[in-house]
Amino acid sequence: MTSLTFDAAIFDSASAFGAPDEVDHSTLSSSATVPVNYGKYDLKIDFDKQQIYGSVEYRVGLTPSSTMTDNTELVLDSHHLDITGVTYYIKAHASNWDNSIDPGAACEWTLDAAHGALGNALRITLPPVSAATIDGGQAMWVKIMYSTTSQSGALQWLPPEQTAGKQYPFCFTQCQAIHARSLLPCQDTPRIKVPYSARVRVAEPFTVLMSASGNYKQTPAMLPGLQPNDPSERGYVFEQQQPIPSYLICIACGDLAFLPTSDYTGVFAEPSVVEAAAFEFSETEPMVAAGSLITGCDYKATWGRYDVLCMPPSFPYGGMENPCLTFVTPTLLAGDKSLATVVIHEISHSWTGNLISNQTWRHFWLNEGWTMFLQRKIIRQLYNSKAEADLDAVVGLTALKQSVDGYGDDHDFTRLLPNLAGGIDPDDAFSSIPYEKGCSLLFHLEQTCGGHDAFAQFFKAYVATFGAKRHVNSHQFKLFYEDHFKDVPACQNVDWQVWLLGTGMPPAHPEDQFDRSLVNAAMELKRAWVLNDQAIISASGDLKDWKTGQLLVFLNALLQDEDAKEIKDDTLRAMNDQYNFIASGNAEIRFRWQKLCIRAEMEEIIPHVVIFLKEQGRMKFTRPLYKNLFGSVMGKATAIQTFVENKDIYHPICAKMVARDLELD
Ligand code: BES
Ligand code: ZN
Repeated sequence: MTSLTFDAAIFDSASAFGAPDEVDHSTLSSSATVPVNYGKYDLKIDFDKQQIYGSVEYRVGLTPSSTMTDNTELVLDSHHLDITGVTYYIKAHASNWDNSIDPGAACEWTLDAAHGALGNALRITLPPVSAATIDGGQAMWVKIMYSTTSQSGALQWLPPEQTAGKQYPFCFTQCQAIHARSLLPCQDTPRIKVPYSARVRVAEPFTVLMSASGNYKQTPAMLPGLQPNDPSERGYVFEQQQPIPSYLICIACGDLAFLPTSDYTGVFAEPSVVEAAAFEFSETEPMVAAGSLITGCDYKATWGRYDVLCMPPSFPYGGMENPCLTFVTPTLLAGDKSLATVVIHEISHSWTGNLISNQTWRHFWLNEGWTMFLQRKIIRQLYNSKAEADLDAVVGLTALKQSVDGYGDDHDFTRLLPNLAGGIDPDDAFSSIPYEKGCSLLFHLEQTCGGHDAFAQFFKAYVATFGAKRHVNSHQFKLFYEDHFKDVPACQNVDWQVWLLGTGMPPAHPEDQFDRSLVNAAMELKRAWVLNDQAIISASGDLKDWKTGQLLVFLNALLQDEDAKEIKDDTLRAMNDQYNFIASGNAEIRFRWQKLCIRAEMEEIIPHVVIFLKEQGRMKFTRPLYKNLFGSVMGKATAIQTFVENKDIYHPICAKMVARDLELD
């Protein structure tokens, strides 16, 4: 890496692709002018009231020059929170957990009117502080007393019937992208990254887990400041020493068990699920180790433990990269470890996303595109197979094409850098585009610089440099690439304008570089079914020795290719007789098979679709199945009826999206 001048050029310059002081349109907080730099959360989980309440305390990053003015305003994001009081302290350290020692002094505060998806700005007027105080090592700490409400979109409260054990309720958070503000008041922008410590109280017999160290082997303890004789006053303590953005804060609470998968990795789940989860994710440690090797940054030294929490079925995503504690959907439990790529993906975020965070949500492709890229490098390394990594990429390209077709070729959300100004909810811009168009760009840059080895060195340099800086925007990334490969003329001529700001499919496909050995068999079988070539079909047998990825390519091709559009119900029935897709325990296969049968208007599939829709709430499956059923002739009424009867089982984000898809809102 060259010199400080390089640093300055990268981190302080600006262009249409990003600027260090770029406005984050997804926050109302004073993150740019009055940032916070440490968080201390003292919370209590109340299942009866379905509330989390308590206090959060922030150290305010006042500099000596910013301290003398009156009316400095600290602004935090909040959404659907009930704020009850704000106090401040001037002190060197966060307070002891025992609140009675120092009540602080009251602060003036107001809550602005709601601003759509962005929520309400909480404005706190800070008293003036002298420069000498700050120079002397003291800081301003601000403490907010609050509680969540039934509207808090980050939270889902599950009654016992919606858990595997059916005995205890469960609650969990999902903060990405901008829901942390409905869990606790915070500067809800990835730009602000802070270490935190937390104490969470809950009644027996619940376990609490957070995105921090403290999950592993922690037994509930009576902590200072709690009532020793009150069994509901048990506490768990957590500490995240790495600075993390608010979207990576998480809490999960329920009846949970643990099984190790190595000395620093393991699995949490409800007791009846934990063995299946430990089997499914038994390869976690080698996956983490491969990530450390490829990035050149040691996982353990950075984050400590890596545990997976297998969630109840309403968890709306495949996985969520909460630091030290990835959340995954139980739909990954295929019984043959074939869907553990999602865990590889979440592990990859440890470097691309969690260590190096997108500066704002406009640059989301730098989180997800890099993570898809790293996921595929880990697959290649772990299985010693480029063909397997490329199989994964081919499945991804289908998803990309589907997203672009869904939005339309010239939609703003098909850009790598979409426009999120005007209160756009980042949830609405979510699709495969940042993932797969982003990954295509990285493949293209890899090809341009000379291939796998040259780019592997660049990737390590990227992790070292931006890992130290903690953030990245697209402009910084471009300059870093151009500087790293300054002696390679082709690297100076990348058409960034088209890649980052162009709409539609990416301008170049890396496909000609793919090892298609696994993909070809799947495409050939698809052709055979389209042409009714019985010789090839019967030679294919029952596909039991195929990789799941190959089956997905086969089913994707049937769903997407022009020549397969006319496939009729009779052909699908014959296919099912041979492969028994309908009984597959693999959610990805089940999903695609059901979509095919809905398209062919096969009424016998409807009960299977309804079962799948009632059994889980992962948006990737739930939304398209409802939408396709709704769009079919045979299933429109069933789609509406099933949703109306079951909407309470879905996560609030999922329910909102499906309601919109079914034109019910
Ligand atoms: N961070 C995402 C999930 C997410 C993104 C939640 C944006 C909320 C807003 C996670 O890492 C992810 O990408 N999950 C994928 C996994 C897949 C790409 C392997 C998923 O959930 O399907
Ligand atoms: Zn991701």
